[in-house]
Amino acid sequence: MDYTCLFLFSVCLFGGCVASPPNFVLLFADDLGFGDLGCYGHPTSLTPNLDRLAAGGLRFTDFYATSPVCSPSRASLLTGRYQTRSGIYPGVLYPGSVGGLPLNETTIAEVLKPLGYATAAVGKWHLGFGANGMFLPTKQGFDQYLGIPYSHDMGPCWNLTCFPPDVKCFGLCDVGTVTVPLMHNEVIKQQPVNFLDLERAYSDFATNFITTSAKKKQPFFLYYPSHHTHYPQYAGPRAAGQSLRGPFGDALFEFDNTIGNLLTTLEETGVINNTLVFFTSDNGPELMRMSRGGNAGPLKCGKGTTYEGGMREPAIAYWPGTIRPGVTHEMASTLDILPTIASLAGAKLPQVMLDGVDMTQILVSQGMSKRETMMFYPTDPSEMYGLFALRLGKYKAHFYTRGATHSGTTPDHDCPVFAVLKSHDPPLLFNLESDPSENYPLPLIGRPDLQDVLDTIKKVKEQFEATMVFGESQISKGTDPNLEPCCNPQCSPKPSCCQC
Ligand SMILES: *[C@@H]1O[C@H](CO)[C@@H](O)[C@H](O)[C@H]1NC(C)=O
Ligand SMILES: *[C@@H]1O[C@H](CO)[C@@H](O)[C@H](O)[C@H]1NC(C)=O
Ligand SMILES: *[C@@H]1O[C@H](CO)[C@@H](O)[C@H](O)[C@H]1NC(C)=O
Repeated sequence: MDYTCLFLFSVCLFGGCVASPPNFVLLFADDLGFGDLGCYGHPTSLTPNLDRLAAGGLRFTDFYATSPVCSPSRASLLTGRYQTRSGIYPGVLYPGSVGGLPLNETTIAEVLKPLGYATAAVGKWHLGFGANGMFLPTKQGFDQYLGIPYSHDMGPCWNLTCFPPDVKCFGLCDVGTVTVPLMHNEVIKQQPVNFLDLERAYSDFATNFITTSAKKKQPFFLYYPSHHTHYPQYAGPRAAGQSLRGPFGDALFEFDNTIGNLLTTLEETGVINNTLVFFTSDNGPELMRMSRGGNAGPLKCGKGTTYEGGMREPAIAYWPGTIRPGVTHEMASTLDILPTIASLAGAKLPQVMLDGVDMTQILVSQGMSKRETMMFYPTDPSEMYGLFALRLGKYKAHFYTRGATHSGTTPDHDCPVFAVLKSHDPPLLFNLESDPSENYPLPLIGRPDLQDVLDTIKKVKEQFEATMVFGESQISKGTDPNLEPCCNPQCSPKPSCCQC
């Protein structure tokens, strides 16, 4: 497929043609690891629609999120900038967080709005709620929103039903806060949310959005950050009990069903050949959930760590007629999605320091990546420690390593929280092409070639860190229980009275 074909999409009416910019559907899984999809080798996952995307699209082997936890990863996805710039660190935002993704950050939705795109977000936001919902998606370029504005375990869940007919959610989730709300735009529709009906509501909302936009011949951007497969897993009647993999497998299958519904709608409305569907995940698997958590496949450790398992993710780009089916080993990142979408739509890039690069060439002509490096910040980035690791080409150097609570329970002693912060001088160096599992640090003695690699990595790190300006930490602004979303704001006693 020739690159110029991209510019041939057009709508011709009464002898005149107007360019029809492509639509974008961005699918984002939650705590889903590198080894969790059928098309990435998982033996018991049931992901027929994701497998269909992979078979008909481009599957990435070296695709990275920017953080091993949720909020920072999402900030980077939507802004094309490392989370340190926007201040979405350390850790994640909470229901009562004072801060959120600063409104002067430019999201993908805001990049597309000036071109007349219809924009919608459905699912897990997790970039802030704030006073009077000031950080909701509708304040960041999305025309419409349906979803839970943060993780669905950020409220007590032990009395909630996660599987039919009335199987209670596994564990307690977060006690002492309001139960999780379902919001439509800026209004709470339900509190607590009904997990058995949630995916159907999301699917209907998303397919209606596609149908309405397609009918109006309006280009659209649909952002669907799913709650699946984050703890506690849930699934409605269509997916429960369907996979061989238990609760995690059923949750994943439910997300996969929705992806199937979206594809069918794109086909039926006739826009499938003018739509880029992109799928990836926010961070690695939460190994501490054991068989109820995700799987990093051959990669080391998972959520919360800067090993590959924490940040390398499954990723698939699908666009029939434009993206040739295949597998790419080019390095790419969630950072690159904003510049790529901007380029494909012909939109202006925001006038800020971007960390993403345009990956159009990888998508449409299986070309080389413009990305040479990937930076690994821990969950609590600081100017004092800087990067924990840096990948340059096929080599990755770890300057610091540390385990994480989220990565507990596997036999690897480097993964759990007991593996305290360790500084490495010289850094641990791995060849990720021959050793993607980061099992065998390369010996430097008698290897001037590897010493050169390390020197180059150190230089690149210094240059990058010299230009990194940390934004004011939004998460350090703390929490205020009065800011937690409550459907009955005047009620008492809080938080338990917030039920509608
Ligand atoms: C947003 O505003 C803050 C506070 O004025 C400023 O420090 C930051 O650089 C701005 N960010 C962008 C992307 O303009
Ligand atoms: C949960 O259910 C138990 C038993 O029905 C009840 O005693 C308790 O008050 C409930 N807790 C909440 C937070 O609803
Ligand atoms: C998309 O393109 C394929 C191949 O050219 C064609 O068979 C199919 O009908 C097209 N679908 C739509 C909905 O236009």
